[in-house]
Amino acid sequence: MKITQRNPLGTTHFFLFFLIHFTISTSADPLYIPSDNILINCGFPSNTTAPNGRNWITDVDSNFISSLQPNTSIASQASKQSISIPQIPYTTARIFYSQLNYSFPISPGPKFIRFYFNPASYSGPGAGFSVSAGQFTLLGNFSPSEDYVIKEFCINIEDYKLNISFTPSQGYGFVNGIEIVSMPLNLYIRNELLPFVGQLNWFEFDNYTALETVYRLNVGGNEIPPEKDTGIFRSWSEDHDYILDGEYGATSNNTEVDIQYPSTVPFYTAPENLYRSARFMGLDSKIKQLAWSFSMDTGFFYLFRFHFCEILHQITKPNQTVFYISIGNMTSGDRMDVIKWSGGNGVPMYVDYVGMVVAEGSYRGKQDLWISLYPCIEEKPEYNDAILNGLEIFKLNCTDGNLAGTNSPSTKPAWAHSGFPSRRLILVAGGAMAGGTVAICLVCFLIYRYRRSMKVMYEKCISLSANRSRYFSLAEITTSKQYEQVEL
Ligand SMILES: *[C@@H]1O[C@H](CO)[C@@H](O)[C@H](O)[C@H]1NC(C)=O
Ligand SMILES: *[C@@H]1O[C@H](CO)[C@@H](O)[C@H](O)[C@H]1NC(C)=O
Ligand SMILES: *[C@@H]1O[C@H](CO)[C@@H](O)[C@H](O)[C@H]1NC(C)=O
Ligand SMILES: *[C@@H]1O[C@H](CO)[C@@H](O)[C@H](O)[C@H]1NC(C)=O
Ligand SMILES: *[C@@H]1O[C@H](CO)[C@@H](O)[C@H](O)[C@H]1NC(C)=O
Ligand SMILES: *[C@@H]1O[C@H](CO)[C@@H](O)[C@H](O)[C@H]1NC(C)=O
Ligand SMILES: *[C@@H]1O[C@H](CO)[C@@H](O)[C@H](O)[C@H]1NC(C)=O
Ligand SMILES: *[C@@H]1O[C@H](CO)[C@@H](O)[C@H](O)[C@H]1NC(C)=O
Ligand SMILES: *[C@@H]1O[C@H](CO)[C@@H](O)[C@H](O)[C@H]1NC(C)=O
Repeated sequence: MKITQRNPLGTTHFFLFFLIHFTISTSADPLYIPSDNILINCGFPSNTTAPNGRNWITDVDSNFISSLQPNTSIASQASKQSISIPQIPYTTARIFYSQLNYSFPISPGPKFIRFYFNPASYSGPGAGFSVSAGQFTLLGNFSPSEDYVIKEFCINIEDYKLNISFTPSQGYGFVNGIEIVSMPLNLYIRNELLPFVGQLNWFEFDNYTALETVYRLNVGGNEIPPEKDTGIFRSWSEDHDYILDGEYGATSNNTEVDIQYPSTVPFYTAPENLYRSARFMGLDSKIKQLAWSFSMDTGFFYLFRFHFCEILHQITKPNQTVFYISIGNMTSGDRMDVIKWSGGNGVPMYVDYVGMVVAEGSYRGKQDLWISLYPCIEEKPEYNDAILNGLEIFKLNCTDGNLAGTNSPSTKPAWAHSGFPSRRLILVAGGAMAGGTVAICLVCFLIYRYRRSMKVMYEKCISLSANRSRYFSLAEITTSKQYEQVEL
């Protein structure tokens, strides 16, 4: 990971690469063919095919579990199974009371790794375990409590083997399914400098960063199941449950529009149906913004990917709709004009931002992050509107390779309640963090007036060496326009 300074004058021109849109490809729904596509139905005695046509293979007596660890795990049946849960892979599990290692032969390159958990009781209550892959801790003291859950990670594998360790931390551990699918190079981790939210700094990925998918939404549209994705089996959910304060706006599902992927947005970026549907404020709208709220682990960097594609037939020219993106109440400062940046109606594009979700005081756990889009009135667009087609949010590992957040919300210290509404979330960009302690404290003091607690926030995750990044003076940060948004 590297942080460099953005050119202050260039903030609105950072995604110039989107202008290279002239070669338009028009192939009909092509699929990416992953070189590795492994699905393990843990604890099930035979190979099976799921209703969606995917083949799940058994791990019973397989080479995925070394014969050097006999009896560390047993195959087990879920004690109860509600009808709404898919049979495969959730009816059976592999449970373990001591460390269990899986080893998979694969090709090097970036992979999706997905774990399937059905927290039905297998061996009494009290499962809690951690999961790691290579140098990454993916889940820590994890005890799933929802109906059933899929955890997705993106990891770059450099070897021909992928070792995954499951370690019980309390009681026992279990896993119902494991999936490993190759992903296209540069799908999420690209050799591009990414803008920090509300900052004049750039973020640069190294090739060793792992991501956890925390939200993937088909905004304004229906759920898109894995088999309807672009060949890499991602699930896209509806955005309905995340909309803040009933600001639903309007949705559109334009099945007529011909989606034209430009060369900068390969077809596998997102399926056509994601771009065909969108949420708008509405051209004659009463609402002032589109806004969503997401529960996020504090103390981590996040990658935010916004997918856009203009699908309203009346929007075809630049300056008809121009809007701002705000993440955690900090505006990106970039004036989004989808037609201008994508090149036309029906042409997909996306923008990426990086930001850190910072804890309030010594509180660690989950907090709500607000994301909103609102019209850029200064530009005097023809319509006061904004549009969003899709949104993906990924958590980035800390410098020590940790991706595990707290599983259950920890109790907030009482004093933290007094100053803040519970739905408060603050994003501080890496520039401030990479700087000297003095700058960090002053800036954060300005933002939160809780100077005393700042050190605690960074202790755990961030240990950037100061010589790798530039020192930031307070003046530079506070004169940055974006900070005007911050309530003092
Ligand atoms: C299941 O499928 C895998 C991969 O095709 C194969 O190697 C294995 O022998 C099969 N196992 C059984 C029990 O059929
Ligand atoms: C594993 O369990 C089986 C059956 O319970 C037993 O016969 C065998 O001795 C055990 N092996 C080891 C290495 O403990
Ligand atoms: C599992 O893998 C880890 C890391 O490679 C290793 O340290 C540990 O000894 C292995 N555990 C077992 C039970 O083989
Ligand atoms: C995976 O584990 C095997 C033994 O269980 C070990 O020989 C191999 O070096 C490990 N590979 C990686 C990449 O950790
Ligand atoms: C990451 O890997 C790609 C392809 O292997 C390489 O071109 C690039 O220079 C690497 N980036 C960094 C920062 O090491
Ligand atoms: C769009 O509408 C079509 C037809 O009504 C429907 O089948 C499809 O699921 C919708 N797509 C989305 C993404 O909402
Ligand atoms: C869009 O608006 C900007 C600022 O108001 C103006 O400079 C630009 O010429 C307009 N572009 C078009 C294509 O109307
Ligand atoms: C993630 O972990 C790897 C390996 O520990 C490290 O090289 C990388 O810089 C980390 N990423 C971030 C964003 O800290
Ligand atoms: C974000 O700003 C709005 C007003 O613009 C305010 O009502 C809200 O409390 C702020 N949210 C947070 C999380 O600070």
